[in-house]
Amino acid sequence: MSSADDQKRAAGEAAAALVETGMVVGLGTGSTAAWFVRALAARGLNVTCVATSQATADLASSFGLAIAELGETRAIDLTVDGADEIGPGLSLIKGGGAALLREKLVWEASGRCVVIADAAKQVKTLGKFPLPIEVVAFGHKTTALRICDVLSEFDIAMMPRLRVTDGGPVRTDGGNLIYDAACGRIEEPAALAAALKSVTGVVDHGLFLDLADLALIGADGGVMTLEP
Ligand code: A5P
Repeated sequence: MSSADDQKRAAGEAAAALVETGMVVGLGTGSTAAWFVRALAARGLNVTCVATSQATADLASSFGLAIAELGETRAIDLTVDGADEIGPGLSLIKGGGAALLREKLVWEASGRCVVIADAAKQVKTLGKFPLPIEVVAFGHKTTALRICDVLSEFDIAMMPRLRVTDGGPVRTDGGNLIYDAACGRIEEPAALAAALKSVTGVVDHGLFLDLADLALIGADGGVMTLEP
């Protein structure tokens, strides 16, 4: 049986094969996206990359890939990124690596988005992985209470938890905070996405809906291809 890391690597390498010379390529964040970055660099193509986090920009630069800021290139041709959960219709939960805002900005600016993952990421219903919600730091406890109210409208009774690390709250690349909402089951992802987005203080959330064009999922015996 292949390990999760083998599966991530296989998915990343399969995605790198989709890149053509001259493309503008969006680079995701996380351990699976890192395999894609390595495989892309190994191909030695002439590409320009737009990174979804400082960590990915640093990794890509260390392999000699050319990095540009979002908006400083022509349109992004293809973005490849990981996910925390892949649900029906390629609905996704992302943001486990706290990069969801930059990821969504890059995905939405891309002609084609490919999600890469190990087999364990595929789920029947989104929500077991706690939904990351990025909020501005000012008044964040009040914002968290309002998020809690929104969740209760969807029969999700829980208080989102501020993401912390040893040194205190996790800060995103943009200086914001992350709350994680352990929803359990998200029965109406589109309605929940809209409701969360309407809360003042919420910058964005990790529901990526109608954005992925293709999934490449590493599994025992090869890479599975899924379309919405
Ligand atoms: C980063 O914020 C996330 O969206 C990642 O893409 C996601 O957490 C998947 O990470 P791994 O590839 O490390 O599992």
